[in-house]
Amino acid sequence: MRDFDENTISDAVIARFANCADPRTKQISEALVRHLHNFMREIRPSEEEWAYAIDYLTRTGQKCDDKRQEFILLSDVLGASMLMVAINYPPYKDVTASTVFGPFHVNNPPEFHNGDNIAGNMEGDPMYIEGVVTSAEGGPVHGATLDIWHSDGIGHYDVQQMDKLGGFAGRGLIKTGPDGKFSFWTIRPEFYPVPTDGPVGELLRAQGRHPYRPAHVHFLITAPGYARLVTHVFANGDKYIDSDAVFGVKDSLIKTYEKKAAGTAAPDGVKPDKPWYYLDFDFVMRPANVDEKANGSARKAPADSTVSYIPN
Ligand code: BEZ
Ligand code: FE
Repeated sequence: MRDFDENTISDAVIARFANCADPRTKQISEALVRHLHNFMREIRPSEEEWAYAIDYLTRTGQKCDDKRQEFILLSDVLGASMLMVAINYPPYKDVTASTVFGPFHVNNPPEFHNGDNIAGNMEGDPMYIEGVVTSAEGGPVHGATLDIWHSDGIGHYDVQQMDKLGGFAGRGLIKTGPDGKFSFWTIRPEFYPVPTDGPVGELLRAQGRHPYRPAHVHFLITAPGYARLVTHVFANGDKYIDSDAVFGVKDSLIKTYEKKAAGTAAPDGVKPDKPWYYLDFDFVMRPANVDEKANGSARKAPADSTVSYIPN
């Protein structure tokens, strides 16, 4: 066939996939061409606009290195990351909701014990966090690993200021005890902007959007026999709680970071000499062998391996 026009070109391209051996590759290729062509027929790009789009994607790739993943950030601000979470982690019983992973996780963070302070040299108000990890089928989860990370009191992660802090801060691993409980001291996180010095910042400005995420603490929780849980606990009342730049907020993940007066005793008996915050949040894990067919998905709960946006 020759002489394809605006409409016949789509079927012609899709026909070339006829001998594709892998059914999933074939399905994805066909859908990609169908949607891409329909998108182009809808927006009818000029040659200049198409060149700009290609340059934009080129610059997005060029902004990526071992510390920065601009394509994931693009997926985040376009809501694609949260759509991926919605597809792969539908609600199951009272399992804690999942949300976006984000770019500030690091592999092999420092290890701590319950009750320790994970703040390092991070600045801000003290915060005591405690809770219990249980199974959706009932009972505490002993030996669950909580991988925790968050920003400081002015909205910076440790990895954005390693020279100043001299090492990791506001992050670490803590294991639950036989009762499923965990507790630690840290610094109250504050809202912060996603990185805006690259193509994603350019996009947000062009779309008339702010780049902020409401204050939150990240938790990646793993335990043998349970699906990995990637989530945050957001600060109730944060000014950006209803306009998160990456659409990650869920009602069930919002909790008040309770302000306590200086000298008030925390559950471990410590009385900070300045105002401090208290957060109590319980997590519910999904057994890894639970099939999600009940939720309309043929997928099994994902394995409990860790993933990181930063290859380190
Ligand atoms: C974060 O919460 O760390 C984050 C998530 C998505 C984009 C940027 C930051
Ligand atoms: Fe974050």
